[in-house]
Amino acid sequence: MALTIHDLDTPAVVVDLDVMEANLARMAAFCRDHRLRLRPHTKTHKVPELAHAQVRSGACGITVAKVGEAEVMAAAGLDNILIAYPVVGALKVERLARLALRRAMTVALDSREAAAGISAGLHSRGASIDVLVEINTGFGRCGVTIGPEAIELARYVASLPSLKFRGVMVYPGNMLVDAGKIAPLVQNERTRDAEIVELFNRAGLPIEIFSAGSTPSAPITGDLPAVNEIRPGTYIYNDMNTVGSGACTLADCATTALVTVVSTAVPGKAMMDGGSKTFSSDTLRTGKAAGYGYIVEDPDAVVSGFNEEHGHLDLRASGRKYRVGERLRVIPNHVCAMINLHDQVYGVRGETVEVVWNVAGRGKLQ
Ligand SMILES: Cc1ncc(COP(=O)(O)O)c(C=O)c1O
Repeated sequence: MALTIHDLDTPAVVVDLDVMEANLARMAAFCRDHRLRLRPHTKTHKVPELAHAQVRSGACGITVAKVGEAEVMAAAGLDNILIAYPVVGALKVERLARLALRRAMTVALDSREAAAGISAGLHSRGASIDVLVEINTGFGRCGVTIGPEAIELARYVASLPSLKFRGVMVYPGNMLVDAGKIAPLVQNERTRDAEIVELFNRAGLPIEIFSAGSTPSAPITGDLPAVNEIRPGTYIYNDMNTVGSGACTLADCATTALVTVVSTAVPGKAMMDGGSKTFSSDTLRTGKAAGYGYIVEDPDAVVSGFNEEHGHLDLRASGRKYRVGERLRVIPNHVCAMINLHDQVYGVRGETVEVVWNVAGRGKLQ
């Protein structure tokens, strides 16, 4: 007999396969239509089988955040892997060199220290790697400033053994804003991107790869002519932050936590068996919804707080009767952080559990 959603113990992460497949197909079609290379960030799902599905649907390769994630993906046969995070430290560089001997690897970096360390470590092992210089266009997390220091770093990269300068990476994380507030940010991004292209052209360092993008900024990439590659991650599942940004609707959210109501003893409240160890405690950065997640069965309930194993439902605005033992589905605020807390995810079609995936890349923090 086939396993159904009713056979799963809770809390469990459930993926609606129809919705997920539509999300994959939509982004792949968008990239094809706009002549963009799609290099999805796999930190959202951390499942090699899903990375393969993304490549099958048209991705040119994949993105990861950590060397450990790259190792998991490479071991599962994935190739052409971008580590979109500065690889710093001899222990990581040694593992990066081993990867670069087997796979086409690219790293993004924003310092001479990172470049020198990777060059020395790879050169001594006979490996080589492509490099994107990360540039800050406004998010203010990583990335050199647009100007002479970006050119100096690119020239330095080009001068080092085992490193090949291929272009630039930007991450417009500042574009995760409420729907309707993105227009001035697009204008800023377009201006910054054009400055980058001009700067590098003038310096005689043509940019082959201009890697940008994220889920909330993907739909406006058509307005950013400098960009030829995007790295959306969240789009495969979507979450409440993506809904708030206007980049998807509730119906496009493929992934929910299936939870059980375990207590209704406190008046005006119910407790579900998922807290911060199920969802993470990420707050909502966009949209009008309140709380730490969206209850599909009862939009008027507010997920008002978490203990480690308890999720507090504030029912003051809800007319619904809750009973101990019933199950609910919750769309998380930040799906990537939730996934990292789970060993497995269950792919369902209708009520049938069609596939169980191991989240092989979870917890690979190094
Ligand atoms: C460097 C980088 N690129 C791409 C992404 C993907 O962004 P999103 O998950 O919004 O699609 C992230 C997300 O954190 C990121 O840090």
